[in-house]
Amino acid sequence: MEENKQLLEIASQSAKYAYAPYSNFKVGAALLTDDGLVFTGCNIENASYGLCNCAERTAVFKAVSEAKTNLKKIAVAVEDINRTVYPCGACLQVLAEFMYDGSVIISKNGEPEEIKVKDMLPYNIVLDKT
Ligand code: THU
Repeated sequence: MEENKQLLEIASQSAKYAYAPYSNFKVGAALLTDDGLVFTGCNIENASYGLCNCAERTAVFKAVSEAKTNLKKIAVAVEDINRTVYPCGACLQVLAEFMYDGSVIISKNGEPEEIKVKDMLPYNIVLDKT
């Protein structure tokens, strides 16, 4: 199967593990590192709403905390893979930090669409790039 489609399916599967009792919106992510590893993530909410963590950041923080900082692509999906979900602004800023030249894979009617992080958040803050 094509790599992006595979990542999208893993992301959609990961949405099952979301802890989202407040929004009931379960999101999953699948992150591919430069050396071919895949880290998954899901959103993890909290009774103190501002502490909710998105699926994308969960996946990035898992990878970085295991010394994987060269990140290539991240797919994001909900359980119904036909629905489209885009990363929020906060996640895009985190993606800019660790995968400035990387891309986001979203689902368009179940098919992967790849968009560069730089194109999704052109006015990002990355200290060594300014
Ligand atoms: N959420 C994600 O995890 N990723 C996205 O790309 C969009 C939003 C989460 C945050 C919150 O737990 C819930 O979805 C509703 O916004």
